[in-house]
Amino acid sequence: MSYKIEDANGKLGVLLPGLGAVATTFIAGCLAMRKGLAEPIGSLTQTGTIRLGKRTDKRSPKIRDFVSLASLDDLVFGGWDIFPENTYEAAMKAGVLDKETLEPIKEEMEAIKPWPAVFDQNYVKRLHGEHVKKGANWMELAEQLMEDIQNFQKEHGLSRMVMVWCGSTEIFLEKTEAHKSLAAFEKAMKDNDPSIAPSMIYAYAAIKLGIPYANGAPNLSADCPALDELAMETRTPVAGKDFKTGQTLMKTILAPGFKSRLLGVNGWFSTNILGNRDGEVLDDPDSFKTKEESKLSVLGSIFQPHLYPELYGELYHKVRINYYPPRGDNKESWDNIDIVGWLGYPMSIKINFLCRDSILAAPIVLDLALFLDLAKRSEMRGIQEWLSFYFKSPMCAPDLYPEHDLFIQLMKLKNTLRHLKGEELITHLGLEYYD
Ligand SMILES: NC(=O)c1ccc[n+]([C@@H]2O[C@H](COP(=O)([O-])OP(=O)(O)OC[C@H]3O[C@@H](n4cnc5c(N)ncnc54)[C@H](O)[C@@H]3O)[C@@H](O)[C@H]2O)c1
Repeated sequence: MSYKIEDANGKLGVLLPGLGAVATTFIAGCLAMRKGLAEPIGSLTQTGTIRLGKRTDKRSPKIRDFVSLASLDDLVFGGWDIFPENTYEAAMKAGVLDKETLEPIKEEMEAIKPWPAVFDQNYVKRLHGEHVKKGANWMELAEQLMEDIQNFQKEHGLSRMVMVWCGSTEIFLEKTEAHKSLAAFEKAMKDNDPSIAPSMIYAYAAIKLGIPYANGAPNLSADCPALDELAMETRTPVAGKDFKTGQTLMKTILAPGFKSRLLGVNGWFSTNILGNRDGEVLDDPDSFKTKEESKLSVLGSIFQPHLYPELYGELYHKVRINYYPPRGDNKESWDNIDIVGWLGYPMSIKINFLCRDSILAAPIVLDLALFLDLAKRSEMRGIQEWLSFYFKSPMCAPDLYPEHDLFIQLMKLKNTLRHLKGEELITHLGLEYYD
């Protein structure tokens, strides 16, 4: 069976709350690629292929030729920030891309100016911005966001939109009664309940309008039963949380390898230096706690210590992020991994990753925007677990544990695309080649 998927005709609006390092690097990349000035390296939707049928069939089209995806030429960018700078100025300030890269797209980037944000400093303690909306309560602010979105759609004649949260990491919040049902959530919005954070207001506004929503940061945002209920009602796909880049990407590449070969791991110490605004925000212990929870969850679920107590029962896992301004966006991370082999003999592995955070995150924003739009056109709704591939803390149904293994995540993503198009799923059994 194949799904009825509407073609990706017309323009796709990409709404970005938070026009900082990641968002501006993403926009700049798309604009440069449109002009043929760069290749979409790191993007599965642009560069990846998908095998169909048997290995002997030799059918491996590009993903973008297999499923109908919006083209880069049809993307229109809009967003909000607590600072009024246009995206060219914001990109220059973020310092990820050099002047030479930005020069040919300067005019287009200057034309993208943030709308005033929904913001409250109690949720991101290290930031103070004046470019913010005023309203009597969260509900009124959500209505103002919806107005921005509708004006943007009219102004650019957009046929569809998606939203990807690229705003700062908010403080750690637990789910409360206010998050349990849509009715309670809407009441809490009207009462200005402190358990509702600004990122939830953006998620609410998008989902209420049926606009797919992805969360690139670890804060709860759309990850609660109330917004899941709204997503089911408005038939809206949702994905999150926390873009999988840098050190955690390395973890989800290596850890499945150790586990496959049944090598024990009793220590994994990870430290980072990071000097961009994200690093400054994460220097606040409450925002760091949100990030720490997200980063720590990965190994436990890959190693499954309850199934392999002798290999992973004693694992000591520590993650540190240190704000170090001289490095800007060029994060450096060090990992020391203590592993155990045959007869309990210890070994250790050191990783020193000199990475560029936003360079790794930008193609994820692009893929999420295009795949969420595909999901919407395919009438998928609620949590899109097949997009776990992109996240450190993948959202999944409440009675499931999340899948963190990058390779299982990729298989799941590609099988979902095959399933949507009525192609045979690939199990890698392969016995038929030897019959
Ligand atoms: N760069 C990566 O590799 C990576 C990986 C995983 C997650 N993330 C997350 O992605 C997010 C963006 O990262 P970044 O490096 O671009 O950070 P950044 O600090 O450069 O950009 C975030 C922007 O969001 C704005 N902002 C904060 N609260 C807002 C609100 N309520 N409404 C609108 N704008 C708001 C800030 O003013 C800032 O300009 C962060 O939460 C970060 O933790 C980044």
